[in-house]
Amino acid sequence: MNTRGQLRNGTWRRDVTPDLPLHGAVAKQPWKHGQLTLLLARLPRGILSGTIHNRFTLIGEELLIARSRRLELIPPYLFGEISAIKRKAIAEGRDVIDLGIGDPDQPTPSSIIDALNSAAHDPSTHRYDETNAGWEPFLEAAATWMKRRFDVDIDPLTEAMLLIGSKEGLAHLAWSYIDEGDVTLCPDPAYTVYKVNTLLAGGEPYAMPLLEENGFLPDLNAIPDDILKRTKILWLNYPNNPTGATATLDFYRDAVAFARKHNLLLVNDAAYADVYYDVAPPSVLQVEGAKDVAIELHSLSKMYNMTGWRIGFAVGCAEAIATLNKLKSNLDSKQFPAVSLAAAHALLHTDNRPTLELYRRRRDILVKGLNELGWKVSSPEAAIYIWARVPQGHTSASFARMLLEKADVNVIPGSGYGEHGEGYVRMSLTVMGDKNGERIQEAVARIAKVL
Ligand SMILES: Cc1ncc(COP(=O)(O)O)c(C=O)c1O
Repeated sequence: MNTRGQLRNGTWRRDVTPDLPLHGAVAKQPWKHGQLTLLLARLPRGILSGTIHNRFTLIGEELLIARSRRLELIPPYLFGEISAIKRKAIAEGRDVIDLGIGDPDQPTPSSIIDALNSAAHDPSTHRYDETNAGWEPFLEAAATWMKRRFDVDIDPLTEAMLLIGSKEGLAHLAWSYIDEGDVTLCPDPAYTVYKVNTLLAGGEPYAMPLLEENGFLPDLNAIPDDILKRTKILWLNYPNNPTGATATLDFYRDAVAFARKHNLLLVNDAAYADVYYDVAPPSVLQVEGAKDVAIELHSLSKMYNMTGWRIGFAVGCAEAIATLNKLKSNLDSKQFPAVSLAAAHALLHTDNRPTLELYRRRRDILVKGLNELGWKVSSPEAAIYIWARVPQGHTSASFARMLLEKADVNVIPGSGYGEHGEGYVRMSLTVMGDKNGERIQEAVARIAKVL
């Protein structure tokens, strides 16, 4: 009997609830097809949820070779249902305004593409990047940029390294430092990479609530001593996704002192550091002595509309850079040197103000429009997100679903970013097809009709 074929059968999928214990069991055993049939046949019937089909597909895939138990620690994707409604709406030809994706809609500035073109024609870029921590002109440009932007001195040889995007660096920092039982302090709500990679590496994420009344900064003094004894990493992310909050230099001073006192590595995810409107957000490395305990990750993705190019850099604590490099030199072979050269050009010569001015226009239209509808939405100083409380009577998910179904406007439910994101939705200012704010205006008009 072909069990895989059975799993694809619609009746099986509908009737069976593969709960977590079963899933664990599945992950632990090398599969024999007969065993699986038996197990599934014993399961309770008739309990349905939106995630069953996904789970089933997972189990189906595990039939041939069981996945690592580690992978089963990744929390399920909460918004499969909303994504499915969006896909269906688009397939039906409905005009969905997508405020969900945080990916710049504007093209990479053409001078960067030209720099890539000439670098790609140079055969010396066609080989492995065999430098220690990244193509040197790129690391030098990163150091020059840090000096110009923050007045921070970075030694490009020991205090900087190339990343294949900051997501890669964040994930691998967890893998470089975390053993079973180690704790990392994770903001909540947050970009999920800190928590997920802590879990994958065998560690325990400890949630630090980011509350509106505290300006979406964590209360470091509220973290219990027994947690701190086991903590190795303090993750921070300013300018913040999803709340749009920025940190002050005073907050960074406290955080550096805290990291020093408790012997932690402070990792500041600064992917949005140069996406700001009026006041330039600081770097944690501006704090005196920060390089002893802190590493900061920067990304060209949002800064220069280069998400697909996969390039960023880490700067700061030389020991942390060397530790990350020890892992990475066994995992990847860095980036295409022509991309590194184009990125160096971007850091040295490109001004992305035109894109930021477009975001500003969209931000102002959205914030004003929502506030005129009676919401209390603040205007972010940086990043590309509006973080808005959902109306009373709604959860994050029910409100997002209602907007999508009734207004053809897609937003992300805040609960996807953690427990403390419940009650909010995230709206992104990167809207495909919007030239001058008119799609955002249309989104506001549609939201007004269904509220
Ligand atoms: C807070 C935050 N950090 C890091 C990243 C990853 O960016 P990169 O493209 O550099 O990997 C993102 C992407 O959305 C993000 O929101």
